[in-house]
Amino acid sequence: VKRVETIVELRALLDAQRSAGRVVGFVPTMGYLHDGHASLMREARRDCDVVVASIFVNPLQFAAGEDLEDYPRDLARDTALAEAAGVDLLFTPSVGEMYPEPVLTTVSVAGPSEGYEGASRPTHFAGVATVVAKLFSIVGGCRAYFGEKDFQQLAVVRRMADDLSLPVVVIGCETVREPDGLAMSSRNAYLSPEERAAAPVVHRALRAGAAVVLAGERDPAAVAGTIAAVVAGEPLADLEYAAAVRSSDLSVPDAVEPGDELRLLVAVRFPSTRLIDNLGVTAPAAPTERS
Ligand code: PAF
Repeated sequence: VKRVETIVELRALLDAQRSAGRVVGFVPTMGYLHDGHASLMREARRDCDVVVASIFVNPLQFAAGEDLEDYPRDLARDTALAEAAGVDLLFTPSVGEMYPEPVLTTVSVAGPSEGYEGASRPTHFAGVATVVAKLFSIVGGCRAYFGEKDFQQLAVVRRMADDLSLPVVVIGCETVREPDGLAMSSRNAYLSPEERAAAPVVHRALRAGAAVVLAGERDPAAVAGTIAAVVAGEPLADLEYAAAVRSSDLSVPDAVEPGDELRLLVAVRFPSTRLIDNLGVTAPAAPTERS
């Protein structure tokens, strides 16, 4: 894997690849890579001729008091993982390279940025949309791979790329989970052993929510209530939000109709960190057995 630190060099390398008719795959990350990232890289490797991944802990998406300074970093390990997953180019710009001072231009996306993570972290999605717009402009025409774990982020990025007519195909990839169901996340590194043992409650709660949808529950609030009740059973976990929304636009339906494609969203605080997760479920034409 070749490390690239400047915008000018990355642009030149990728322009040359596209001129030779090659398809570029792009995986943006904040580093501290895990199997979830590796699966995005492998998918890009399968689909594309040249694969670039970025590692940039984006200060714009952290509010004051969040974990920007403590965000886990390990470039040597990340480089080895990216190489093993088939990445050709690793873009690791400095903060100064990405954001020459003063930063006067930002990108904000109304609609999908509102509610849920947007309510808990009011400046977060403008930070994400700004850095991703910038990265898309630097990388240029490509297929870009994002995990569904950050489902609202994926909706924001899709909308931003569409609205700005960026030459990027945004691809959402399924969440990769630990054997006990915990969604892989760089922030899992913060969990104490006791919290780590408790954390699968997040996925268990989502599965309980999906089970009541499959059993015929039509009230989104009741589905959210089921998720909340499972989280409430775990003393180390504090629910921040639970919701059953339409996958397409994250709106809450008045009533779930047969065939509706729903996303169950949840955010849970543990003493050392906050975890988010989601699960897709399609409302059945006729109720099925609870699973
Ligand atoms: O999901 C992430 O790791 C980040 O939000 C992203 C998309 C790399 C932007 O900084």
